[in-house]
Order: sequence, then C-alpha cells, then structure tokens
Amino acid sequence: MCGIVGYLGDKQAYPILLRGLKRLEYRGYDSAGIAVLNGDGIEIFKKQGKVVQMETLISDESPKAKLGIGHTRWATHGVPNDVNSHPHYSQSKRIAIIHNGIIENYTSIKEGLLKRGYTFHSDTDTEVLVNLIEDVLINEKVDLAEAVRIALNQVVGAYAIAVIEEGNYDQIVVAKKGSPLVIGLGENEYYIASDATPFIEYTKQVVYLDEEEVAVLSLKNGLEIRTIANQLKTAYVQELALELESIEKGGYDHFMLKEINEQPKSIYDTLRGRLLVDKGTISIGSFVEYEQKFLNADRIIIVACGTSWHAGLVAEYLIEDLARIPVEVEYASEFRYRNPIITERDIVIAVSQSGETADTLSAIQLAKSKGATIFGICNVVGSSIAREAHVGTYTHAGPEIGVASTKAFTAQVTVFTLIALGLARKKGTISEQLFRKLIVELDSMPDKVAQTLKVDAQSKYIASIYKDVPNCLFLGRGINFPVALEGALKLKEISYIHAEGYPAAEMKHGPIALIDEDMPTVVVAIKTEQYEKVVSNIQEIKAREGKIIAIVNEGDSVVSKIADHVIEIPEVDERLSPLLTTIPLQLISYHIAVMRGCHVDQPRNLAKSVTVE
Ligand code: F6R
Repeated sequence: MCGIVGYLGDKQAYPILLRGLKRLEYRGYDSAGIAVLNGDGIEIFKKQGKVVQMETLISDESPKAKLGIGHTRWATHGVPNDVNSHPHYSQSKRIAIIHNGIIENYTSIKEGLLKRGYTFHSDTDTEVLVNLIEDVLINEKVDLAEAVRIALNQVVGAYAIAVIEEGNYDQIVVAKKGSPLVIGLGENEYYIASDATPFIEYTKQVVYLDEEEVAVLSLKNGLEIRTIANQLKTAYVQELALELESIEKGGYDHFMLKEINEQPKSIYDTLRGRLLVDKGTISIGSFVEYEQKFLNADRIIIVACGTSWHAGLVAEYLIEDLARIPVEVEYASEFRYRNPIITERDIVIAVSQSGETADTLSAIQLAKSKGATIFGICNVVGSSIAREAHVGTYTHAGPEIGVASTKAFTAQVTVFTLIALGLARKKGTISEQLFRKLIVELDSMPDKVAQTLKVDAQSKYIASIYKDVPNCLFLGRGINFPVALEGALKLKEISYIHAEGYPAAEMKHGPIALIDEDMPTVVVAIKTEQYEKVVSNIQEIKAREGKIIAIVNEGDSVVSKIADHVIEIPEVDERLSPLLTTIPLQLISYHIAVMRGCHVDQPRNLAKSVTVE
C-alpha cells in the first residue's frame, strides 16, 4: 500500500524519483507526488491519478534538485484527490513528508495540534504526523532526526516515512514500523524506497531498516541508524540478487501475462537445489534445524490472505494426505482477533508473496508471543514476514509486479509440495514407491506447465465468448477446490465480473439456484477418484441450461461431449494437478480483463502489498 522513494546525491533527483514511482505504482496508484529541495525551498508537485498524470504538472524543464522524495498512494485516510496526495508540508512548509502506513492515534494527536494553533488542509493522518514533527522541532529545539524520533514515540500505527527539511540539503530522515523501507547505498549517493526496484540499476548494496528504526542519510556524515528508543544500531549491508530485466515487461503487454508465462521458470527455480531426483531426496536448507519440531508438531496452522490463503488450502490437502499432520488454514485477519488456541507444539506457517501483508505479519507476531514456531514462505527477500519468522524459505518466483498474483501462487504450491513430501518421507507416511513417483513427476512440472501454457489461444477464444457476463461460477473438488476459489478471485479482481468459487458438490446446496443460460460455470474436471461425481455436477448444470467451460485431461472423452468448451491439460497425479489446472483459469481471466478494457496490472481499488489492516 503506497510506494515511497527518495534520492540524495550528485545526480538530478527528479528523473530518478519519477522512474522509481512508476516502478512502485503496483503498490498504489490513486495519486502521486514528488517533493524536491533546492534554493527555492521545498517544491511539491502532486496530483490525483497515476504518475503520468502528475508528470503533466511539470511544464518544460524538470525541477533541478539533488535531493527529493516521492510517493504513489493507495488511499486510507481521505479520498484520493490532489490535496490528500503526498508529499505533505508541515504548517510552516519547513518540512515535507511521505508516508506509507496508518497512524492509528492521529485523531488525538490532531486534537492536541489544533489546540496549539495548527491548521490542516487534508484529511490524512500523514499531515498530522508532519505537523507533530514540526511541533517537536520547534518546541524541543532539536534537529530534524531527533524531532522525528521523539514524534514517533507518540505514534501508534504503521509507517515507512521519509522527511526532508528546508535548507538541509544533505539530509533525508527515514523511519520504519510495519511498512517496508530499504536504503540503497550508491557511490556518494543514497536511495530509499519501499522495495529495491526503483534503484537496482544504480546499486545492489542495501540496508533494510528494522522495526522502529530511524535512519539519517547524509553524504557528509554517512548513514546513522537509531531505534526510536535512541539506541545506536550498526547498519547491516546486504548485496541484492535482483536484475533489471526481472522488473520489466520484456515484450509482453502486461506484467500479468509475463508472469503467467514465467511459471515454468519460477517453478523450476523454486525446485532447484531442493528436489534432488537423482538422490531421491528433498532438502530445504532452512528446514533441517527445525525438522524435529515439524515432525513432532501437534498441528500446523497456515495463516495468509487472498491468493496466498488459497495456496495454504492446497497445502492442507497435501500435508494431511501425505504427511498425516493435522493442518488448519486461517485467514490471517480472522486468526489474530479470535483469541486462537496456540501452543508451543504448534507450527505456524505464514505464506505471503510480498512478505509485508499487515494481517499476516500481526498473526505471526501473535503466534510467536504464544510460543509457536513460525515458518515463513515469502517471495520478497528480506521482507518483514521473512525476518519475523524463526525460519522459512523463499519461493524464488522473482519479482511479481502485476497486482493479481499468478506465479507466486504456483511457487507457493510448489514449496508446499516439497514440504509435504519431505515430511511424509521423514515420518514414514508415504511408501517409497509413491514418493519416487511423485518426485519424478514434480521434477517434470516446469515442462508440463510450459505445455499447459499452449492453451492460451483457446483461453482467449473462450474469453471472447464470455467477456460480457455479469457472473461466473468456478467449481472444483478436493485439491482443486482451492483452485476454483483462486480462479474466481482472479476473474473478479481484474475484470470486475462477480465470480464465486465452490466445491463442486456444494453446488446443490444453494448456488445451483443461480444457474441459467447466462451463467457460465468453469469446472475443474480432471481424472481423479471424484471424476464421475464431477461429471454428474456438470450434467446438473447442463440440465438447467448453464454453460460449461471444463478443464479436463488430454483425451477426455466424457466431459468433452457434455461441456460447451473443454480445455485439455496434461495428466498428472491429482496432488500435483493445481500447478496445471490454475493456468487456464489465469489465462481466461487475463484475456477477459483485457477485452473489457480493464487495467490488468493495476485493477481499481487494489494494491500489491497490503500493509494496512
Ligand atoms: C490476489 C492477490 C491478493 C494477495 C493478498 C496477500 O491476486 O494478489 O489476494 O494474495 O493480498 O498478499 P501476500 O501474498 O503478499 O501476503
């Protein structure tokens, strides 16, 4: 939610900030703004809409300055308009701020400031924070960094902020709690951003700020980090393994399409070094130390949101079936507020592409405080959830920029498959023969996914027929029930068509009332033990004149006679099938959204990384 960027160095700041904001737009795109500091003081350019709309504010020449900050917004407090856009000035315009997060106690702080004569122009919590900093600056007679530190001690909530001050040409003050912030260290220059994408062509040396840390960036004095409790910290510099090509569209019309097509590689990368077919073993490096805990666990609780939650549901089928460990899958947002029973013998797995989802982060903090072991499955290296977990593993899907998650989902399912098989083997709950069969098949999944991607043209054709429907139903059974949920989520979030996912057999208990000739149903009808039952469900829909789009195995001769359309995918063991059945659903949603003229990579009201509750 919201992207922040900043620059201090010898180069012109404005073009760097502008490009950085465009890369961060996936985090929010309600409005955008830039503040630069030069001889004229702090100049702010901001506007409702996307970054390109803000650019129209700059006439011929871009503003000259070697220090600046920028923001792309996903509105929380205050509607998206020019005034509520960031950066925000303090009352005297002496300082300016950008902020990603929410100041929960802003009302009480605002009341105090109003009494002290402050006036407010926007409805945002951020304007309250910048005035609080100014108030401390003036009354406590401290410098900017100290004012930020003192002010943050009064704040309840989440923030990644960058603050600049008039006349202070060699300083950006940043701070973080609950929202991500990374500092890039260049040659005589500093970058800051919500993630490293705005500056990877300039430097790969980064420092991730920890919770409740304030950093002062100065070319003269270097980088100084303190906690908000005023404890001096040592900066831990890391080398990023991120390449520029991985965050560009690479010839595709949309990031989403690129990411769908990257799945053979992202699954391969997620398996690499972990699935050792020749040796007949599975080895997840970080797992070893905690293996006994997993093996002795009373149960595994998976917490996640959205698509990652769907991956968790797939994991429930895999882990219970193969490793015979009880699994519960929880929406992180519900789990954290329902006083759950958690013990030291529980393993809590947090699944998150971004590693920054506020609800998931809070859920694991709660579980940690109750003594559970926390295992993180994240895609973004160095993200908050990855760091909060006791142990974990990365999905290696590479940067996912399209707001609708695709390759992260299949990479998460891949990791869970490895975990389930690894645990099953250690526990002796799987026969050697089945283990061998499954690992060989898992090893072939990148190729099978590549083969499945050939259904693109057919998916596009089907999309052209159903692009105008108001509603759509997705059905699946067993391990493909979560795939139906995921298919429905993909369609609704990028095309704004109402869609629901159901276990196929549940259809009779309500949703069948919706079926008529205008209501298409997408059914995962691959060869499984439940195949005949799914065929019966399809018959029931056809008897009510519903339209059927069925995902079937190659050579299917039963469903293809009843369904209106069939999409054939390679046959694999049912346990591995979600990695394939998901693909046509992603493609159908993508093409429908494109045909409806929707903004596929940045759907309305959404943002990639949900760092607010
Ligand atoms: C849907 C989607 C979201 C995310 C959810 C959790 O396509 O992307 O539902 O899956 O916001 O995000 P992460 O995985 O970053 O925790």
